[in-house]
Amino acid sequence: MTATRVSVLGMGLMGSAVAKAFLDAGHDVAVWNRTPAKCVPLADAGARTVWSPGEAVAWGEVTVAVLSDYRAVEEVVTSIAPGVAAPGSVFVNLTSGDADAAAAMRKTFASTDMTYLDGAVLSFPKDVGGTADILLSGPEAVWDTYKDVLTAMGSGTVHTGPAIHEANVIDTAATGAFLCVSLGAFYEASAYAAHHGIPADRLAGPAIRWLELMRAEILQGVEQITSGDYATDQATVDTYEAAMAMVTDAIRTTGRPANILSGFLSNLRAAQAAGLGDKSLAVTHEILNGKTP
Ligand SMILES: NC(=O)c1ccc[n+]([C@@H]2O[C@H](COP(=O)([O-])OP(=O)(O)OC[C@H]3O[C@@H](n4cnc5c(N)ncnc54)[C@H](OP(=O)(O)O)[C@@H]3O)[C@@H](O)[C@H]2O)c1
Repeated sequence: MTATRVSVLGMGLMGSAVAKAFLDAGHDVAVWNRTPAKCVPLADAGARTVWSPGEAVAWGEVTVAVLSDYRAVEEVVTSIAPGVAAPGSVFVNLTSGDADAAAAMRKTFASTDMTYLDGAVLSFPKDVGGTADILLSGPEAVWDTYKDVLTAMGSGTVHTGPAIHEANVIDTAATGAFLCVSLGAFYEASAYAAHHGIPADRLAGPAIRWLELMRAEILQGVEQITSGDYATDQATVDTYEAAMAMVTDAIRTTGRPANILSGFLSNLRAAQAAGLGDKSLAVTHEILNGKTP
């Protein structure tokens, strides 16, 4: 393997893991962080420390940014003087953001010498360099040139296509709206159970069993969204609404707000109001998109 010069901007929890993965794969790595002290562990592991974002993009053939948010990336990128970046270099932004942020960032890069890939990490730092899922969006040719370097971040590193917003949209939906809310719902559940003297470890078994069953439920939901056929002989929107109204009340009775559940209940009631109470839960996909199938 040929070593590539990779600069990593941001030595937070995720950026440090990303830099370490490039080092472990045998690349030459430079690291920058707004608070320089956080570069020390990576410098000890063999990375070179650079003292400004400009120095990082001048040195790196590939620069990877892993900062808190797009505002931070914008600040960092606009601090780089024009013409400083290594010619033909690529800037990969793994910071979490939405579709508009990705599009705006691509515009920012249009006036620089660097090509731009937008991306998202759908894994925890411990999986980076191993099985991490990392999505990258942007020009196909850039991906083709650098895929061998970029896959050092995780075996699940894939190119979603040329549309710049795709990585962020998939991450926002799958990680934000689904995974994080599911985890949040577990703690809504565990707090309620604790009120009744049932500790969290007693919930883990049934919750994990449900996760296994959810695999089939999700695949069936996707099939229904694709076909537009929301018939069910299992559980209807009405069934869910009655059960969730009971569960929401049960939790509220204990003095807890049931915030996640009450949002779900609103979605179910919107489907009922549209006359879709006898359909499957997947029909809420249509209702949330303002459609009545
Ligand atoms: N941790 C995870 O499990 C995980 C998983 C998937 C995706 N992500 C995403 O990865 C990104 C980084 O997360 P993290 O967990 O590494 O967060 P973190 O540990 O809080 O690190 C944030 C980094 O951003 C830098 N930063 C913040 N504002 C800045 C500014 N205005 N200018 C320059 N640098 C700035 C910080 O620098 P200082 O050290 O100077 O404050 C630090 O290096 C986020 O977008 C996050 O959503 C994280």
